[in-house]
Amino acid sequence: MTWTLAATLDDLPSGSSREFWRDGRVYALFRVGDSITCIDGRCPHQGGRLANGTFAGSTVTCPRLGCLRWSFDVTTGAASVGETLTRRLYPVRLEESAVFVALPET
Ligand code: FES
Repeated sequence: MTWTLAATLDDLPSGSSREFWRDGRVYALFRVGDSITCIDGRCPHQGGRLANGTFAGSTVTCPRLGCLRWSFDVTTGAASVGETLTRRLYPVRLEESAVFVALPET
């Protein structure tokens, strides 16, 4: 795993989300209160970009229009439609206002 600078706290007000890309993959960051979480950025159904979804409490709902509106717990990656579709959860570390995410080696 490599710690990667993903955002700053200023980029992520409480209750917000944003995505970032590394090596051709998209990841989704969420701020739940004072905690930041990071999960895979694409919905396993048809690739909806989760950071652009409806985010409330600790749940994000896939934004893809006309789709199934699957939802995910951003603190665990768990999918509303079953455990086999759980999104990977990545470790997050704060250094002052910098948000680092531990990503797998490519
Ligand atoms: S792409 Fe997310 S529910 Fe279809």
